Amino acid sequence: MMQLGVIGLGTMGANLARNAARNGAQVVLFNRTKDKTRAFMKQFGTEGDFVPAETLRQFLSALGAPRVILLMVKAGEAVDAVIEESLPSLRKGDILIDAGNSHYRDTERREAHLLRQGVHFIGMGVSGGEEGALRGPSMMPGGDPAAVKKLLPLLRKMSAADGAGGACVTHVGPGGAGHFVKMIHNGIEYAVMQLIAESYDLLKSLGGLTNKDLAKTFAAWSRSDDLGSYLTEITARIFTVKDPGTRKDLIDLIDDAAGQKGTGRWTTEAAMELGMAIPSINAAVDARLFSGEKEYRTKAGKNMPTSLLPLRRIAPGIVRSALELSVICAYAEGFELMAKMAAKKQWNLDLAEIARIWRGGCIIRSRFLVTLQKALTGSSAAKKAILMRLSGVRQRQWRQAIAAGIARGVPMPALSASLWFYDSLRRDRLPQNLIQAQRDFFGAHTYRRTDRAGDFHTVWNR
Ligand code: 6PG
Repeated sequence: MMQLGVIGLGTMGANLARNAARNGAQVVLFNRTKDKTRAFMKQFGTEGDFVPAETLRQFLSALGAPRVILLMVKAGEAVDAVIEESLPSLRKGDILIDAGNSHYRDTERREAHLLRQGVHFIGMGVSGGEEGALRGPSMMPGGDPAAVKKLLPLLRKMSAADGAGGACVTHVGPGGAGHFVKMIHNGIEYAVMQLIAESYDLLKSLGGLTNKDLAKTFAAWSRSDDLGSYLTEITARIFTVKDPGTRKDLIDLIDDAAGQKGTGRWTTEAAMELGMAIPSINAAVDARLFSGEKEYRTKAGKNMPTSLLPLRRIAPGIVRSALELSVICAYAEGFELMAKMAAKKQWNLDLAEIARIWRGGCIIRSRFLVTLQKALTGSSAAKKAILMRLSGVRQRQWRQAIAAGIARGVPMPALSASLWFYDSLRRDRLPQNLIQAQRDFFGAHTYRRTDRAGDFHTVWNR
């Protein structure tokens, strides 16, 4: 039987602890405020083999060597605080798993720090929210391969099924790779959520759909092969929920300023540092930030003149194509960013394997990931299937939806960013030849030519 220590009994930590116990582990529990541990034991104590500890010292001595400790505390200083406090008592071979949404750079720093004492630090991305933590999340452990190997038997039991006989967990890569991959997951999550939100806006504002219609539409989409996903499923549910107090549709009573904890922004920052464009993800991050600037936008927006183009109602099928194709772009951007980072860090990420462990448990789980996994494994049929979806009538409807939004002044940052990403890929010549000429004109920055090798400079203003 495996023993697992869990530090941090917030909802995620408590549910992971229960999940581990359900899967046969003895779980030693510790939380900084004792009340939480007591409440946990009162509520779930009989569910499995739990050993509550009131002090960190008690906790550490209840764990047999080598200790395996899962940390589920708030990302940032709290993680460092727990590390510093436990480090003097940790021994060579102990494994400390950080299962929170930590920045991959912090993970790299902590790994190096703990390794000096022979302690393995595993940065593990965990996705699936509260429900997933309990019933089966997708888990992305990164760090020392031998240490991760020791954890895999339990993690396999705890994680979601991938729908093809496997478990949604794998050793992602060394160092901060696990947390980096989780960060990209969240970047894609931001983009898909924003794309769904913009589709909702188009369907409501230009399609005339009521909340009841929206629930039906998203439910139908979530059952389809090309749009079936956890996020479309929960979206359909959201439109059916009433506010118990007013009996109004709850969605209409929710403030339109969205919060964020930072993983989306980190994805944007990582891409910027690598000099890489991820337009759909960036647009989603921007859109969230903008939504939060409520005072500014309501004040400044008051006197903005409106002058729109005429347009008839748009059909849901048009929006459906726009959503479907834009989501493909968001995935493409996220996976390309992983490939670039892997090359830079020499991480040797197996992108097909990452698509596989996202097929179940995580927030962006979707049927598209099945095709994407196959395409990344090298299946030409799967690659062709994706290209087919991007072609013909669906691509025209994608353009139509965005044209409609533009005509009627409905902001669609992520939908239109996805389309520009696609069109920029598709075009063999972009207008940046002119940028190069301008740079050379005012700053003698030189340019390269299409017909000859070398760097050239022209005296433009002769
Ligand atoms: C997941 C989620 C999870 C969490 C995010 C939300 O994969 O389970 O991504 O990690 O819900 O932290 O992030 P924001 O607060 O930034 O939206």
